[in-house]
Amino acid sequence: ALNYTFSIIKPDAFNTGKAGKIIAHLESQGFTLKAARVVHMSKKQAEEFYAVHRGRPFFGELVDFMSSAPCMPFVLVKDNAVHALRDAIGATDPAEAAAGTVRKLYAESKGKNAIHASDSDENAVRESRFFFAEADTI
Ligand code: CMP
Repeated sequence: ALNYTFSIIKPDAFNTGKAGKIIAHLESQGFTLKAARVVHMSKKQAEEFYAVHRGRPFFGELVDFMSSAPCMPFVLVKDNAVHALRDAIGATDPAEAAAGTVRKLYAESKGKNAIHASDSDENAVRESRFFFAEADTI
C-alpha cells in the first residue's frame, strides 16, 4: 500500500483555529507532514476536486462550504497511510465517530466535519496532485 495519503483541514476547523491541534493529534499517532499549504478554493476548483460526488444530494452544499473560506490541504506519510488516516479521522458524521478520532474531537456535523481523507491509494495520488507538485510529495 501507498506510504502517503492526502488530507484537508476543512474550513470549519481551519477557521476556528483547530489546524495546529489536529496536526499535533495526527503526529502523535505516527503521521509525518510531507507537504502543506493554505488555499481558498474557487467554486470551480471545489467542483473539480469533488467531481466524484457530482449528482449526490449534498454536492451543492459541499462545494459551497469548501469554497466558502480557506482550508488547509496536506500530505501525510505513514505505513499503509490511507487506511491509517481513515481510522484516525472516524466516521463522516461526528455523532457516529469513535472516541478519540479527529471528527469526534473537532467536527460539528456531517457536512462541517473538520477533515477530509482520501479513500483509496488511487485517490490519494489524484488528490495530492490536485494541490501539490509531484516533487513536493516524494
Ligand atoms: P468526505 O467523506 O470527506 O467527502 C464527502 C463529503 O460530503 C463528506 O466528507 C461530508 O463532509 C460531505 N457531506 C455533506 N453532507 C453529506 C451527507 N448527507 N452524506 C455524506 N456526506 C456528506
